[in-house]
Amino acid sequence: SAPAIPVTIHRGDYRRPEWQIPDIALDFALGITMTRVTAALSVVRAAPAPAPLLLRGDGLAAAEVRVDGAVWNDWRMEGGDLVIDLGHRDAARIEVDTLIDPSANTQLSGLYASNDMLCTQCEAEGFRRITFHPDRPDVLSRYRVRMTGDKAAFPVLLSNGNRVATGEGAGGTHWALWEDPWPKPSYLFALVAGDLVVNRDRFTTMSGREVELGIWVREGDLERTHHAMAALKHSMRWDEEVYGREYDLDLFNIVAVSDFNMGAMENKGLNIFNTRYILADPDTATDADFDGVEGVVAHEYFHNWSGNRVTCRDWFQLSLKEGFTVYRDQSFSAAMGSPAVKRIEDVRLLRAAQFPEDAGPLAHPIRPDSYQEISNFYTATVYNKGAEVIRMMATLLGAERFRKGTDLYFDRHDGEAATCEDFVCAMEEGGDIDLGQFRRWYEQAGTPKLHLALAQEGRDWFMDVTQTIPATPGQETKAPMMIPLRLAAFAMDGSGALLPERLATLTDAVQRIPLGQFAARPALSVNRGFSAPVIIDLERASGELAWLAAHDDDPFARYEALQQLMLDTLVAAVSGKADDREAVIGAVGQTLEGAVNDPAFVAEAALLPNEAFIGDQMVTVDPDAIRRERLALQMAIGTALENEWRAILARSAPAATDPSPEAKGRRRLRGVALAYLAASGLEDVPGLAFAIFSQADGMTERQAALATLAHGDSDERTHALDIFYQRYRDNPLVLDKWFQVQAWSQRADTVATVAELAQHPDFTLTNPNRVRSLYGAFAGNQAAFHQADGAGYRLLADLVIALDPRNPQTAARMIPPLGRWRRFDEGRQLLMKAELERILAQPGLSRDVTEQASKSLMG
Ligand code: ARG
Ligand code: ZN
Repeated sequence: SAPAIPVTIHRGDYRRPEWQIPDIALDFALGITMTRVTAALSVVRAAPAPAPLLLRGDGLAAAEVRVDGAVWNDWRMEGGDLVIDLGHRDAARIEVDTLIDPSANTQLSGLYASNDMLCTQCEAEGFRRITFHPDRPDVLSRYRVRMTGDKAAFPVLLSNGNRVATGEGAGGTHWALWEDPWPKPSYLFALVAGDLVVNRDRFTTMSGREVELGIWVREGDLERTHHAMAALKHSMRWDEEVYGREYDLDLFNIVAVSDFNMGAMENKGLNIFNTRYILADPDTATDADFDGVEGVVAHEYFHNWSGNRVTCRDWFQLSLKEGFTVYRDQSFSAAMGSPAVKRIEDVRLLRAAQFPEDAGPLAHPIRPDSYQEISNFYTATVYNKGAEVIRMMATLLGAERFRKGTDLYFDRHDGEAATCEDFVCAMEEGGDIDLGQFRRWYEQAGTPKLHLALAQEGRDWFMDVTQTIPATPGQETKAPMMIPLRLAAFAMDGSGALLPERLATLTDAVQRIPLGQFAARPALSVNRGFSAPVIIDLERASGELAWLAAHDDDPFARYEALQQLMLDTLVAAVSGKADDREAVIGAVGQTLEGAVNDPAFVAEAALLPNEAFIGDQMVTVDPDAIRRERLALQMAIGTALENEWRAILARSAPAATDPSPEAKGRRRLRGVALAYLAASGLEDVPGLAFAIFSQADGMTERQAALATLAHGDSDERTHALDIFYQRYRDNPLVLDKWFQVQAWSQRADTVATVAELAQHPDFTLTNPNRVRSLYGAFAGNQAAFHQADGAGYRLLADLVIALDPRNPQTAARMIPPLGRWRRFDEGRQLLMKAELERILAQPGLSRDVTEQASKSLMG
């Protein structure tokens, strides 16, 4: 067949739905290879004049259409969609039967089988793979779901809302009837049927509603659900205390499934999770995994208000729920642990995942203007930059007025499908502020750059700011943004803060901010707490960064100063210029003095910037030089501070069962210490790492030691990988780590290793976690992926080509690393583009991959 012409959907083309569907009854006769769905839609015309009823379908065939109980023939298929002509009717009851084969659904969108259970993923457009429906988020319905299935195969039958009746049927079947009182869009529909066990608990809401909580997993996984349950209860309380938002059903269920395209899904009353974000115990999960569980459980729970009670009008508004909900989960995690460390982690992620997006061919505003496939827009920009945009509004308004704004937003739009504009309007009214210019954050892509310079007139000091926003595809010129910048100034002689922290609001392309009267040039502390997602370019006096790294009173700014010092040094070294290693060693040494009091912060601060971020500072990325110089600096720091690193490791490790922030911080710092010693090439280090690996009482230390060994070529490496594999080969989430540490390895033969691992009997394309653990990790291993002969590019393109027919969503997520070609030398550029072209030449390519690969080529 001829290649499909991509259809571009534009934000400006939004039209209100012509038909609403106040009620839906779904009847499922469940089977792994055949499920029959009978949908009864009560439709009501919203358009003033007669209009056909458009029901979207994807891979469905309509066996029969009935209108008000009688067989109806006035319908046609348009592509996969069902168009029913209802003449002059303004209301009708439409019934359609569809047959689907969940076992053949390898896309993991719609109704699919995972292990032996049935589950759904409907966001964004999966519901149309279950039954014909408008499948747009501004059509909200009350759902009544009846499910029947074999009692032995599917002892547990779950859907949204409340279970109102159950019963036995013929031939060993049973059924359940579920009703969700809250009108919802189709993307929030969910169903699960399988052999599951439950961790039960209760929660009493602030107004006294008793909620039954359930986390459903496979037999044997129950003991690993306690952390998720604790996180859920903490989230429920936190949302009441911080946003005044209470849960609104008598039941809240979570189901964990092994095969899942994303992290988790906020279906009303029935969240469905990737097992990765539910299952955790100290033996199999690292501290970072525990934090991931806590954050994602909170994220999905918070969606009950930011996403479900108030949903999105159309998918261009995705950041309305995702940016806001990420901001909410970040604030929650900060409150549960160390706010400074959480902020550092958030910014690290933003810089690693979002800044490159903003600087590349797939750049888009947090509210995109067009798309071909919406699944491609579940991006770090929509999620994480979206969260930064909400955070900036919170900063501009202050906590109290921000809360007024969110109260107004929730009250005004409860039960509605809203827009980003609605949110900003609520902030303006609740916060009594003009956000006219601020709206550009929703319109303009690209990371703003602030060039800062200190100026002096007599004793008066100023900060001169020049704001520029780079061109991005489709947006050649940009207007200045409103940017909240937290700043302070210090006297480097130690006499204290010359200018206590204040908030400057930038509005102009060129702007002068008065700082005050000082006798000498102050040390400027700027973008404290990372108050805006911008890149700062500021000429520093010598010694200033080291001074700030040691003395700034904002921990994020201290971290940032040390990172900048490291970055300057590394960039100089890579470009063959004189670098100041001694300054970095001195600053790291000074930071290590805080190791006992605040090990978590020290661990974050002592880490060198990753290779990709170093590359982002260069005109042309030189992956080999970056690897070489970063290792050299790591070795220098490791050697110079050897005694300090050894002292950290000599102290006994906290018990793996101790989840306190202090214990987590100490474990993290031990991992950093081991990595520095390993980089120094000290002879006893493989033995030391192997001892830590063998004696570790939990996964955090075990994985850190294994990852360190994996970089080298010691016998201990082979031995540890083997032990790890034997011990955990039956635990998929831990086996993922075994693939991951090898794909991360800094060894010269990593491309070959990854190619071999792709042939390993435990590697499979059917499980997205496994694919990401090998190829996602590999694509993030800059020097390996960008090996000069292009073998890394070929490997990733081969994967995309093999995976696309099976799972286009996950395949498309592997394209962006190839789209960074403009940042590399000509040889690599040609090789990368050739792989993108090879992908595009495949017959029958999905819309997902076509969009990402073709846009990546254009830039
Ligand atoms: N709304 C989910 C979340 O919590 C993401 C689900 C998106 N899934 C997808 N296949 N696009 O962020
Ligand atoms: Zn979300």
